[in-house]
Amino acid sequence: MHIDWTIKTAEKGGYEHFMLKEIHEQPTALRDTLLPLINHQEGEAPSLREDMMPLGADEVRKIEHISILACGTASHAGLIGKAMIEKYARIPVDVDIGSEYRYRDPIVQPNTLFIVISQSGETADTIAALRDAQQKGATVLAITNVVGSTISREADKVIYTWAGPEIAVASTKAYISQLMVLYVLMLDFCLKRGKMDAAQVSGILGELLELPQKAQLILDQKDAVQKFAHQFFDREHAFYLGRGVDYSLAMEASLKLKEISYVHSEAYAAGELKHGTIALIEEGTLVVALATQDALFEKMLSNITEVKVRGAKVLALVNDGNHQIDNEVDYVWYLPPVSNMLAPMLAIIPMQLLAYYISLEKGCDIDKPRNLAKSVTVE
Ligand code: G6P
Repeated sequence: MHIDWTIKTAEKGGYEHFMLKEIHEQPTALRDTLLPLINHQEGEAPSLREDMMPLGADEVRKIEHISILACGTASHAGLIGKAMIEKYARIPVDVDIGSEYRYRDPIVQPNTLFIVISQSGETADTIAALRDAQQKGATVLAITNVVGSTISREADKVIYTWAGPEIAVASTKAYISQLMVLYVLMLDFCLKRGKMDAAQVSGILGELLELPQKAQLILDQKDAVQKFAHQFFDREHAFYLGRGVDYSLAMEASLKLKEISYVHSEAYAAGELKHGTIALIEEGTLVVALATQDALFEKMLSNITEVKVRGAKVLALVNDGNHQIDNEVDYVWYLPPVSNMLAPMLAIIPMQLLAYYISLEKGCDIDKPRNLAKSVTVE
């Protein structure tokens, strides 16, 4: 399959910035990435397309360990992939950033699958990590957005994201498409290792098919995000808290904010607050609490109380219908109805918008933030 990238798709299409355009292209990116990987006929239950899955049943059954290698935003997608693959397919997964992996002389265990994630397919540290893994005899599966890129050519297997050209330095639609591929891989691994049956996989594919529409619902509410940004853009610091996948999401949300608005922001595992970082919370400190996971909600609530009593201004992102938190925080945003499993794919969207609008208020160069490059092809 080949999708052409025309001049038109690389233009701003009426949006003020490429980043805003690309945020709005996420429903399409999700759909374009998912549809080639599944059978989906009117009136029939969706299923995975075996011919599009990168590994056969025997290969999947042999995997004892997975190593995910990536840099920047792609590594944050990898962290969500790790959580999903470990939780549902029950395969142990490590996530490494390319620049650390390549200089560590890492041990490659037998039957390890390497998954390399890169939007551009040209990131120097990710390429070096891929080569190291291959030299040690490992099979490398690449998830990339660019057909013909170095990573797509050198990897043993490739599965593409179909996000289209991403021009803004801050990655948005590529990240969400990487998540989509990782969820599909997780489902394929579950099916081939007997952790889910075809009906369960089909049910989750049905939910994945509904995501573009739900992503659109969030985009339709962007004015509320802009209003919030207008109130808080002058903060020097912001802290993103989460547990489990919400912590991985917090890392990506925090990166988005710092890279385009130059606000000092940090992501914290909420449970680590008391080990020192709570010392940074003072009157008026902006805290964004990501609390989309039911099993961890009570724990998050107590962390939120801890920062509230120290004067933090707290914005919480929670599931649709969860009003338990309404009186505990200053602002609440609700996700459209979505399972805990798929929540990360929607929860990142308001966070991208928040970073965008804060940057806009500050008059920063949103698409080309200072000192950053879209593709880091040298060390
Ligand atoms: C740069 C970009 C990021 C990107 C990272 C990895 O830092 O600014 O947006 O996440 O490189 O790039 P890749 O193309 O390998 O995904």
